[in-house]
Amino acid sequence: MEWWKTGELEKGGSRHVREEVVQVELWQRQATEQWYYIKRIMLAGLAVCFLLLQRSFARFSMQVRQVEGVPQYVLDYAPLVWLHEEEAFFPSDIYAQVTNTHPNINLTTIEDPPSPLTLENLDILNAYGHNGRNVFLTSNLDVTTEPVWLTGIVPDSTGETREITSSVIIVNDRGSGKVDAFYMYFYAYNQGNTVFFQELGDHIGDWEHNMIRFHNGTPQAMWFSQHNNGQAFTYDAVEKKGIRPISYSAKGSHANYGVQGTHDHLIPDLNLPAGFLQDYTSKGLLWDPTLSAYHYNYSATDHSFESINGSPVGAMYYRGRWGDQQYPDDDPKQPPPFFGFRKFVSGPTGPWDKHLNRTKICPDNGILCIVRDSLVP
Ligand SMILES: *[C@@H]1O[C@H](CO)[C@@H](O)[C@H](O)[C@H]1NC(C)=O
Ligand SMILES: *[C@@H]1O[C@H](CO)[C@@H](O)[C@H](O)[C@H]1NC(C)=O
Ligand SMILES: *[C@@H]1O[C@H](CO)[C@@H](O)[C@H](O)[C@H]1NC(C)=O
Repeated sequence: MEWWKTGELEKGGSRHVREEVVQVELWQRQATEQWYYIKRIMLAGLAVCFLLLQRSFARFSMQVRQVEGVPQYVLDYAPLVWLHEEEAFFPSDIYAQVTNTHPNINLTTIEDPPSPLTLENLDILNAYGHNGRNVFLTSNLDVTTEPVWLTGIVPDSTGETREITSSVIIVNDRGSGKVDAFYMYFYAYNQGNTVFFQELGDHIGDWEHNMIRFHNGTPQAMWFSQHNNGQAFTYDAVEKKGIRPISYSAKGSHANYGVQGTHDHLIPDLNLPAGFLQDYTSKGLLWDPTLSAYHYNYSATDHSFESINGSPVGAMYYRGRWGDQQYPDDDPKQPPPFFGFRKFVSGPTGPWDKHLNRTKICPDNGILCIVRDSLVP
């Protein structure tokens, strides 16, 4: 501002007028340039807003992994799992199940177990108790004291259970373009349903899964594991975020459903919206199991697992249980039975036992396989 005033004092009037004209032109140019910059800043701001908005909507589907040896479509179409808003038992570290337990047979600790047990060598337990089938990984701490390790890890805002491995992806290439991808979810604890104020069917260790059947890389149908069986829907029918199917994990039991709400599963293979044996699903936290997974190829011809990316393979061959054996009725941990049902039952077998070589999308268990083309509870 000051320089041209100084100019007026030093130089003549005509010079001053000319300089004023120049100055006005300069101002006009500056104003135009300023407007141009404001417009640019506003546009940049809008672009940033748009990007942020897009990120917050697409945060999960954007973050797709690549794992050498796993067909890309198996990861691109991997399910996302909604955990219940009141969930207390989250996805858990598979290895922590080994470090927090000791192997028992018939409620008795195996003497001189080969130690230390790891996920790489867990199948050495198959040398005990009927090829490992009677082996129970048994909690070192009394379950009724609510050990912290049973509560698992809360997924972060990107859906990742950080610093642990809580899921297993198994690819069964059946040939002729047919590929079954199993997405197995691990929880350290299963809290059973409450029936007439009685909590029944709790167990340590919980393996649940979805399976997607692909043909030439295109998803056809999806299986949802629930209690002793489950449900199948066409890929077109299931809820999706982008192209990734949504699975709802029931509060406590972690049974997988295609919709949120209440699911009565008293009558086998006929889920109702209400009844005596209810599971509940809702949009609590979204878990992306692909962000913390082990990967394997499975071959049905010899029931063999092939490690991908250094995933520990012994855990896939371990035939025993991933939690305590059902406590006897005279065990103080076990409340009196309720119409023959116990609060604490035995832990489950692992991924090898989930019918990995299926003819249909459902397990080959003799139960009628219905692939629904619309979602039901
Ligand atoms: C696993 O199977 C896929 C085909 O589905 C193959 O490309 C890959 O080489 C196999 N093994 C490993 C270790 O990646
Ligand atoms: C299990 O242990 C109990 C007593 O500890 C014993 O009576 C029973 O025979 C054992 N069962 C088996 C199958 O070993
Ligand atoms: C796997 O399933 C197919 C039928 O889909 C069957 O022909 C084959 O024998 C099974 N393999 C094994 C090892 O059981």
